[in-house]
Amino acid sequence: MNQILELLVFLIPIYIANSSPVVLGGGVPLDLGRSLPDGERIFGNGKTVRGFVAGTLAGTFAGGLVSLVYLLPFFPNPLTQFTAAFFLSFGAMAGDALGSFIKRRMHVTWGRPFVLDTIMFLIVALVFVIPFASPALFAPLNLLFFLILTLILHPLTNYLANKAGLKSVPW
Ligand code: CTP
Ligand code: MG
Repeated sequence: MNQILELLVFLIPIYIANSSPVVLGGGVPLDLGRSLPDGERIFGNGKTVRGFVAGTLAGTFAGGLVSLVYLLPFFPNPLTQFTAAFFLSFGAMAGDALGSFIKRRMHVTWGRPFVLDTIMFLIVALVFVIPFASPALFAPLNLLFFLILTLILHPLTNYLANKAGLKSVPW
């Protein structure tokens, strides 16, 4: 398989995890409505328990399907690739929440655009997959590709989700 294609297939759990809460999320916020002494919410209403769980499960499921049909060169076997899909998805959701946590500490209002939420989910997902993937995955050119693609796709998909009526704001 083409190398670029393999990098794209690798990203499937991360992107599925990150985008599905827009559709599947809602309900009880992850921080249970609590604020920190700075007066701002821990994560805010944009991070919900259901979104976190649904994103993790959806990304793991998508990555699981991929591991059944194609073994990526970054993993020694399908089971490791499947396990990695879970950590990529969980990492994406954790990184997404961390991005919101930092945003709140900087007093950026819930739902407002900020460069951090564009890349935090990618960075934490990649950190979480370190124990499972071969070092070749983390070649500087690959990381650059992930970064640039995400910086392009994130605003684009948010814009499309807004046009499709899934998101109230276009970012
Ligand atoms: N979402 C969710 N649970 C999560 C993550 C996202 O329910 N763990 C849903 C919320 O409805 C959220 C939408 O997906 O509004 C878009 O997510 P995102 O853009 O990451 O959050 P924002 O609303 O922009 O909030 P923040 O300012 O904290 O980034
Ligand atoms: Mg946002």
